[in-house]
This record gives sequence, C-alpha cells and structure tokens, in this order.
Amino acid sequence: MKLKKNKIYPDSGVELTPFTAINYDKVMNIATLGLYHGFIHRAIKAMHIQSEDKILDLGCGTGRNACIMGKYLSGTGKITGMDISPIMERQFNKKCAKYHNIDFARQRIDLPFSISEKFDKIFISFVIHGFPHEIRKTVLKNIYTHLKPGGAFFMLDFSEFKMNEMPFLYRFIFKKIECKYAFDFIERDWKQILSDYNFTGFEEFLFFKDYVRLLKAKKLDIRYK
Ligand SMILES: C[S@@+](CC[C@H](N)C(=O)[O-])C[C@H]1O[C@@H](n2cnc3c(N)ncnc32)[C@H](O)[C@@H]1O
Repeated sequence: MKLKKNKIYPDSGVELTPFTAINYDKVMNIATLGLYHGFIHRAIKAMHIQSEDKILDLGCGTGRNACIMGKYLSGTGKITGMDISPIMERQFNKKCAKYHNIDFARQRIDLPFSISEKFDKIFISFVIHGFPHEIRKTVLKNIYTHLKPGGAFFMLDFSEFKMNEMPFLYRFIFKKIECKYAFDFIERDWKQILSDYNFTGFEEFLFFKDYVRLLKAKKLDIRYK
C-alpha cells in the first residue's frame, strides 16, 4: 500500500494516499482475491447486531462496512462513522445515502475526543495496527469512554502471530504491504492490553488462515462489578 507524504505518523500505512483512499474497496477486493465480500459479511454477522444498537465505526473508510451493519438496524438503531479523511467522507456519504440512520463525523480518533453519545458497540477495522503503540492506548481510552457499560468493542484486524513463523509467501507479502507498526501489533497480547483497560468477556473469530481476527471485548458493567 502506498504511503502519503506529510503523514501524522511517518511509518503508518493507514493514513492512505488519495489514490488508495479513492480505490480502497477495489484494492481490498483484489488483495484478498475476491474473498473480502464474504469475509466482511461473516465478521459483521458475528457481531450479533441488534436492531436498536447504536454503533460507532472508527476509521470507517468508504462506508462499505457501515452499510452492511446498517442492514441489521431498524427503529432507533444508528451508526456513526468516524474518519480523518475528506475523501473517505465523500465516499461514505454517497454509499450510505440511502440509510437515514447512518451518519459521518470527521474526527481524528488518535487524539482524545468527547461526544455526548454513548454506544452499544464500537467497531474498528484495520486501523489500530497502523498507529504507534502509545497512540493505540489513546484510541482504546476513546473507545472505553464512549461505550455504554456492558457495551462491546469489536477489533477486526491482524491476529497475534510471529512473522518469522509465517510461510515464506505470506511473510513476503505481509512485509511488502504492511507498515512498521503492524509488525509490533501482531506480537502483542491484546487480551492482556484490553484487560488493563477494564475490558473483559473476550470472544474471538478467526479468518484468512487465522491471520485475521475479530476480537470482541466487553466494557465492564460497573453496576454489577
Ligand atoms: C486501512 S483503512 C480501513 C477502513 C475501514 N475501517 C475498512 O475496514 O474498510 C484505514 C482508515 O483509517 C482512517 N484513519 C487513519 N488515521 C486516522 C485517524 N488518525 N483518525 C481517524 N481516521 C483515521 C483512514 O482515513 C482510513 O479510512
């Protein structure tokens, strides 16, 4: 994936070039040899979205995932997509225009932010691996602050593995396309990190030969602690 100049985090691969942002969905379809569609539907199904859920999608990209989640909602259910990129904002608003209950907020998620609303579910897909670890902690604090007690955090990203143990071809591709921060992301114990932030009740769903994981973690409901 090509990296853009003037990035906030020089080694990040999730701050996309305009070309990659415009073509992001196509790039993902090609990179996964057409498997992305089935994969993302299965991952979102595993979130068990309820019709009245309020969902925050951090680093939401083109709106592809929000539109799939939107099909599960009715009544007061609602999705807010949040992203830093004006190119993604345009694509998101166009793609999700037919859903009255999906909206977009241009917002950096790597800085502390505060919105009055609290969410039942917070989803972050292929974003958090692309930040330095100290910054990931800020993202986790934002997530914790904006979840309702008992709400669920869903992190769809690379799973935990040792790059040196990957088959040669996978390792070659991973090294070619992924940014420096991803190499450290895969070696961390994410259940432990999330436990340190008072998340609990972990469940995981593995995809793509177990190299991709949807990790579910619940925010402790302190009323029942
Ligand atoms: C690899 S894409 C993933 C998009 C989407 N989540 C998906 O799975 O299709 C990373 C996204 O994170 C956004 N992003 C990167 N840095 C960000 C930041 N600091 N704050 C908010 N969004 C950010 C990018 O604009 C891009 O849309």
